[in-house]
Amino acid sequence: MYRTRRLRKSENIRRLVRETKLSVDDLIYPLFIEEGENIENDIVSMPGIKRFSLDRISKELDEVTALNIPAVLLFGIPSKKDDEGTETWNDQGIIQKAIRFIKKHYPSLYVITDVCFCEYTSHGHCGILHHNDVDNDATLVNIAKQSISHAKAGADMIAPSGMMDGTIAMIREALDNTGFSNLPIMAYSVKYASAFYGPFRDAADSAPSFGDRKTYQMDAANRDEALRKATFDDAEGADILMVKPALSYLDIIRDLKNNFDRPIACYNVSGEYAMIKAAGQQGWIDEEKVMMESLLSMKRAGANIIITYFAKEVAKLLSK
Ligand code: PBG
Repeated sequence: MYRTRRLRKSENIRRLVRETKLSVDDLIYPLFIEEGENIENDIVSMPGIKRFSLDRISKELDEVTALNIPAVLLFGIPSKKDDEGTETWNDQGIIQKAIRFIKKHYPSLYVITDVCFCEYTSHGHCGILHHNDVDNDATLVNIAKQSISHAKAGADMIAPSGMMDGTIAMIREALDNTGFSNLPIMAYSVKYASAFYGPFRDAADSAPSFGDRKTYQMDAANRDEALRKATFDDAEGADILMVKPALSYLDIIRDLKNNFDRPIACYNVSGEYAMIKAAGQQGWIDEEKVMMESLLSMKRAGANIIITYFAKEVAKLLSK
């Protein structure tokens, strides 16, 4: 009889035949940085995650670097918003200041910026509105301005999350023309219109004031379309392809892994984090084990990189 249990007999043999491993090297930690002073506010729906102003963020960055987490992903919360989100390309804006601060005080930390408008527009949509819908090509012009501004401030990588068509080609050209041909782009290639972003929208104050994002983010039902979208981003020069959310989209992560010769990232989003935290707090699941198992499933699905609010906790566990 073929006995599969022979290789499960002890922890040592299980270690030897283990196919997938989670490592601190896989992790990117998102940070919410708010314009202003003396801000260190809990985000109720994301226990353990806070919004910081720059004067209060060092403690958090000390921890991230001590844990050897390679990278952070920055989200800005500006003090003023307008129709177009013009603050996104203000060289003195909150993200630009944050990049300079981190690169100065934590030079070894790799700084990735989320390039989008929803936190910066008065209507909460991811670009310029025209007849109550986001105007793709007009928004592209502003995406280029925002990307160049992040690059000039010293960002190590740009991650556009707005799901406008032609984004990657536009940014690549803009960066190449301004002396940043070595700056990589991580594309939010396959980003679904997901209810799992709820806690993030509270955290970043970025919920759309009317309607939803279904004219630009993808329909959760679609798998072939994910490959088509990733094919465009790949051809336009994305360096890393991302799938978002992660847990309900493990099939898409595997599809991208099988079809593209690029590193694949996934975003373990706010709602996925909140569910595990909430059930853990109730004592209904073993929070730590469920956290590790769900992140491991993302690696097994094919992700090389995981963006996760659990990054610090995972790094702590792995270093034990
Ligand atoms: C858009 C953006 C969103 C997230 C990351 N970038 C929200 C959205 O599309 O509404 C969600 C991340 C999360 O839920 O953790 N700037």
